[in-house]
Amino acid sequence: MSTIAEQILDGSGLVLGTCYYPEHWPKKMWAEDLDRMLASGIEVIRIAEFAWSKVEPEEGRFTYEFFDEFLDVADEKGMKVIFCTPTATPPAWLTEKYPEALNARMDGVLLRHGARRHYNYNSPVYQELSARITGKFAEHYGSRKCVIGWQIDNELNCEVNEFYSESDTVAFREFLKEKYRTIDALNAAWGTAFWNQTYSSWKEVYVPRTTISNSTNPHEVLDYTRFISASARRFAKMQSDIIRCYLKPGDFITTNGLFGNLDNHAMTRESLDFITYDSYPNFAYCLDAYSDAPKEMRDRKWSRNLTEVRSISPIFGIMEQQSGANGWNTRMEAPTPRPGQMTLWTMQSIAHGADYVSYFRWRTCTMGTEIYWHGILDYSGRENRRIREVRQIREKLDGMREVAGARYEAEVGVLKDYDNIWDAQLDVWHQRVDRTSQKALFEAAQRTHTPLDYVYLTADTTAEELGKYKVLIYPHMTIVTEAQAEILKAYVAEGGVLVIGCRSGYKNVNGQCVTDYLPGLLRELTGADIPEYSFIAPDAGKVTVDWDGTRMEAETFADLLEPLEGAHLEAKYTSDYYAGAGTLVSNTYGKGTAYYYGSAFNEASATVFLEKLGVISPYSELVEVPECCEIAVRTKGDARFLFILNYDKAQAEILLRQEGLDLYTQNKVSGRKTLDGYGTMVIRF
Ligand code: GAL
Repeated sequence: MSTIAEQILDGSGLVLGTCYYPEHWPKKMWAEDLDRMLASGIEVIRIAEFAWSKVEPEEGRFTYEFFDEFLDVADEKGMKVIFCTPTATPPAWLTEKYPEALNARMDGVLLRHGARRHYNYNSPVYQELSARITGKFAEHYGSRKCVIGWQIDNELNCEVNEFYSESDTVAFREFLKEKYRTIDALNAAWGTAFWNQTYSSWKEVYVPRTTISNSTNPHEVLDYTRFISASARRFAKMQSDIIRCYLKPGDFITTNGLFGNLDNHAMTRESLDFITYDSYPNFAYCLDAYSDAPKEMRDRKWSRNLTEVRSISPIFGIMEQQSGANGWNTRMEAPTPRPGQMTLWTMQSIAHGADYVSYFRWRTCTMGTEIYWHGILDYSGRENRRIREVRQIREKLDGMREVAGARYEAEVGVLKDYDNIWDAQLDVWHQRVDRTSQKALFEAAQRTHTPLDYVYLTADTTAEELGKYKVLIYPHMTIVTEAQAEILKAYVAEGGVLVIGCRSGYKNVNGQCVTDYLPGLLRELTGADIPEYSFIAPDAGKVTVDWDGTRMEAETFADLLEPLEGAHLEAKYTSDYYAGAGTLVSNTYGKGTAYYYGSAFNEASATVFLEKLGVISPYSELVEVPECCEIAVRTKGDARFLFILNYDKAQAEILLRQEGLDLYTQNKVSGRKTLDGYGTMVIRF
C-alpha cells in the first residue's frame, strides 16, 4: 500500500484533506479535532501558511515549540500534514522595520500591514528574510514523520498581481537590461517613437506609473507583466530550492493557484511536483454575481478553471475546496452549499483530474476578515449536515479508488499562450472578441457534452503533444511568433485540424502590429487573405453567414476573407455590406486542414464547428444526459470512468446505453436512471 504522499503524488489513491489553523484554536481542541477528522475520512491537513510570527516572533529569534507540540499530536494520531512556508503574511515587526518589503499602489502609496499579501517579490531584504524563514521551517519541521509535503506561500499573485514598489523598478530595469542589452533595443521593442516616449538611459525607465488617462505604453506593460511573472516564479523557485535541501524522500512541493500575471506552467515545471487549486464554485451563487450566467452554467464555470489547472498538471490537487457559505465581512455573500452540492463540487474536481481534495476549512473562524467564510464545521464545532456529507463523500471515494491516476479524455483542445493572455489584458478590442469566444466555446462544449482541454503553447510544446487532439481551436491568436507558426504547421501537416478565429496574426512578440498582409505568419497555413476587417457595426443587426447550407450568425467582429490559391471558401456573409465576402476559408496542408474563421464564436457557431468537424458529443453511444448535466471521462489502461454531474436542483433523467459498474454502489447499471438534484454518478465501463 502506498503512503499518502505517494498516493497524492503518483495518483494511486483519492485522498481527502482539510485546512487547519492550530493557531486559531485552544490547544485542548487539537486532539479531538484530529480524531474527528480521521473518523470522517480526512487523512491530511494543511497548516501554517499565515503563521510566521509563531516561529519568528521577533527578528532573528526562532521558537519552534508551538508547531512541534502540534505535530506531536498529529504524529500520535496518524494525521498527515502539508506544511506551508508563511511568506504570504510578513509579520508586523518586519514591515515596520523594512517598509521596502511592502507592495505599493501604482501612485506609490504603500500597501500596509493589516491584511495579507502586502509584500513585493523583489525587495532584497524580503527575499533574504523569506529565504531564512523557509529554511528554518523546512529544516526544523521537514523531518517530522507526519509531514508529507510542502505548500509554498499561499496563492501567489492572489488579491493583487501588480507591484509598484521601488524594489520592483530596480529589478525591472535589470530584467530589461538582460533582455534588450541596449536602450535603443528597448526603444524599438516598446515603439517609443510614438508620443515622444524615447528613453536615453535605463534610469528613466520605471514600472508603469500613473499617467494621463491611464494609457501606459502597451508594449511596456506587456514586458512589465512578463516581469511580474518572472518575479513570482523566482520567488517560488527560491523557496522550492531551499525546501528541496531538506525534503524527505517521497515528500512533495506544491503551491495553490491559479492567479493572473503568472506563468503557472513554467512555475510548476521549475519549482513544484504538481499544482493545487482552490475551488470555490459557490462564488457562482454570490448575491452580486448570481444573475451573471445561465442557470445551467453557473457553478459549471469552475470546470473551466479546472480545465486550466489540468493543462498544468494532468493529475492535480485541490488545496481548498468549498465546504460552506462564502463571505468576508467586507465583501461577497453566498449561501451554504445545499445538500449534495459539496459532493457535486468534490466530484467536479475529481472528474477533471484532482486526486487530492482538501476542504477549506475545518472550523469556521471566529475572528478576522473571514468570519463568514464557513468551513465544514460552524463556530461551535457541533455535528452538522456538512460533516455528514464529508463522510458520505469518503464512502463514495472508497468505491472509486481505481479512478486515481486516470487521465481526463478530450479530443478537442483550445489553444492559449501567456503572451497573448497578457497582451490582451489591456486590449479592449481583443477582450471583446476573446471573452465572447471563450465563453461560447466552453458553453457549447458543456451543453453538447464534448469534453475539451486547454492546451498552452510554450517554448517546449511539441507537434507530437498537439497531435493527440483531433481538433485544435485558437479562437484569436493575436501575437504569433515564427516558432508558434511552425509548430501549428507541423501539427496540421501530420493530419491535425486547426481552427483559427478572427483577429489573428496581426501582432508581433512585442505586441506591435505587423505590416504583413493578414493574417501574417498564419497566411500560408490557413490559405486566408484578409483585405478588410471591422467590428460589426452596432446598427448592423444580425450578420448572417452561410456555411454550405448551414446558417449561422457572425459575432462581434468580421474579417472579410478571400481564399489564397489552393484554399477553399467554405462560408460567406449573407447580410449587410459584408454579404458575399468570405467568412471561413479552409486549406489542406500536408495531411490535415487549417480553417480561418473571420469572426468571433457564439454558442451556436461554436456548436456548428464541433458538429461539422466530427467531434461533437463523443460519448453519445454510451450515455444520454440532459443539458444540466456535465459528463467527463477519465481513462486508465482499458478502464473508462464516466462522471455524470447534475448541476440542477431538480432531478435529471439519464440513459445509460451500455452496462457499466456504478462505483458508488458496486452494482451493475444500465438503461434509464434518475439522478437526484445535485446528484452524481461515477460508472466504470
Ligand atoms: C483563499 C485563500 C484562503 C482563504 C479563502 C477564503 O483564496 O487561500 O486563505 O482566504 O480564499 O477567502
